[in-house]
Amino acid sequence: MQYAKNILETIGNTPLVRLNNITKGIEATVLAKVEFFNPGSSVKDRMALKMVEDAEQDGRLKPGGTIVEGTSGNTGMGLALAAIVKGYQLICVSTDKQSKEKFDILRAVGAQVIVCPTNVAPEDPRSYYSTSKRIAEETPNSWYVNQYDNPSNSIAHYLQTGPEIWDQTNGKITHFVVGVGTGGTISGVGKYLKEKNPEIKIWGIDTYGSVFKKYHETRIFDENEIYPYITEGIGEDILPENVNFDVIDNFEKVTDKDAAIYTRKLAREEGIFAGNSCGAAVRGVIQLEKHFKKDDVVVVLLHDSGSRYVGKMYNDEWMKENNFL
Ligand SMILES: Cc1ncc(COP(=O)(O)O)c(C=O)c1O
Repeated sequence: MQYAKNILETIGNTPLVRLNNITKGIEATVLAKVEFFNPGSSVKDRMALKMVEDAEQDGRLKPGGTIVEGTSGNTGMGLALAAIVKGYQLICVSTDKQSKEKFDILRAVGAQVIVCPTNVAPEDPRSYYSTSKRIAEETPNSWYVNQYDNPSNSIAHYLQTGPEIWDQTNGKITHFVVGVGTGGTISGVGKYLKEKNPEIKIWGIDTYGSVFKKYHETRIFDENEIYPYITEGIGEDILPENVNFDVIDNFEKVTDKDAAIYTRKLAREEGIFAGNSCGAAVRGVIQLEKHFKKDDVVVVLLHDSGSRYVGKMYNDEWMKENNFL
C-alpha cells in the first residue's frame, strides 16, 4: 500500500509546469513551480513544519503548547496542519488588509484568529507585530514563531525547495524569480542554487510601497518608500532577518494593478488558479524579458492558490472598485 502516515508527509515535491501562453514573446523556457499542490495550498507549509520541528527539537515548543504567530494566512495554514497532527493550539494574528477567505480558512482548521489594523507603524502597540509578541508573552506555555527572523524559515527552502528545483531542471535553471515577503523562499532557494551554480540569477519581486528594492540597491532603509499597497504576501516595511540580500541579484517592482491583472491572466490563459503574489511574480518575469536568452530556463515560484482571492482579484466588482479593470 502507498500512503502518507499523516498530512504533513505530503508536503513538498510540487510540480514544475511550463508556461505557454502568458509568456508569449519570451524565447526562454519559463517554468512555474506550483506550490498550491502542498496540502495547505501554499509554499509556506514547508517552512511552517520546519519551524515547528526545530522548535520541538531544541525545547522552545513543549508538549501541549500554544503556537503564536503573526501571519497573513498561508504560514498560519501550514502551522495549523502541524499543530493538528502534533497536538498544539494555534493563535494567528493578522491584519485587516488580508482577504476574509484567509481568516475563514484558518478558523476552519481550528486556529484562533486575531485581526489588527494594517495602517499603523510596526512599533505601534496595535500593529500585528506588537500584538503577536504581546499575546505570546501573555499566553502560558506558548512559543512565538516569528517567521520573519526565524532561521528555520529559509533553511526549509535551502534543504527542500532549492534541491527540488535543481533536480527537476537537471541543473539547467538559469534564473529564479520569486516574490519576497519574509525572504525565506528567495534566501533559502537562492543560497542553494548559487552554491550549485553561482551563475544562476536570483530575482526578487517587490511591491511599490515596500523597502526591499531601494535597500538592496543603496543599503538605505528609506521610510519614504513605505505606503499602503494592495498586493498580498510580498513587500515589507521592515527588514526581516530571513532576507539574505547577498544571494539576491536584483529586485523588480510590480504595480498592484499589474499583479491583479496577471493573477487573472494566469488562471485564464494557463489554467493555473493561483494567488495574487503569483500574478506579481509572472508579471515580473515579463518585465524582465530583456534579461533572458533563448536557451535560458527561468523558474518562477507560485506561492499559493487562487481560492483565497475569489472575493478580490478574481471578483469583477472588486477589480472595478480599485480601477484595475
Ligand atoms: C501569498 C504569498 N506570497 C509570497 C510570500 C513571500 O514568501 P516569503 O515569505 O518566503 O518571502 C508569502 C509569504 O508570506 C505569501 O504568503
